[in-house]
Amino acid sequence: MKNIVLIGFMGTGKTCTGRLLAQRLRRVFVDIDKKIELEQGMTISEIFHTYGEAYFRQRERATIAKVARYTNTVIATGGGAVLNPDNIICLKQQGVVIWLTASPDVIFERTSRRRGSRPLLDRPNPRDAIAELLAERRRLYQAAADFTIDTTAKKPWQVVDEIIDVL
Ligand code: S3P
Repeated sequence: MKNIVLIGFMGTGKTCTGRLLAQRLRRVFVDIDKKIELEQGMTISEIFHTYGEAYFRQRERATIAKVARYTNTVIATGGGAVLNPDNIICLKQQGVVIWLTASPDVIFERTSRRRGSRPLLDRPNPRDAIAELLAERRRLYQAAADFTIDTTAKKPWQVVDEIIDVL
């Protein structure tokens, strides 16, 4: 069975929805960021601050290349996975890609809860950072997606129901 790959901006619920979806479908769940953190023994923020974003992207690329070969797995990617086309090419070989979206306000609100774990939003005005990054990335998410689901006013279980419906 194909993997189910969740892509989308920070705060769109990839991790939470992915975990729940995997439970519902009795599949293994892999969160790419979590795997990088476990393998590196550091948080994503520590990796960014110690080695820089380029290093993190290399680790992300290597981890995605490995996990993309799994089957029957639910995979939650980090929000920047679409920046490297190779990530999407390999994830699509054995996976159906679901793009989770949310309004900028909801993204701001959700990411405010765990700002420390989002180094790219660790700026004086995170709302501007969200707007800029969304503008840069929207077409990349769109191009990669097989299905799109708006999570704005929904609970994770409702998003899971919608994913199961579209598959
Ligand atoms: C990033 C998103 C984060 C994490 C890193 C970079 C991004 O993952 O991979 O901070 O570039 O959008 P989440 O989308 O799970 O927050």
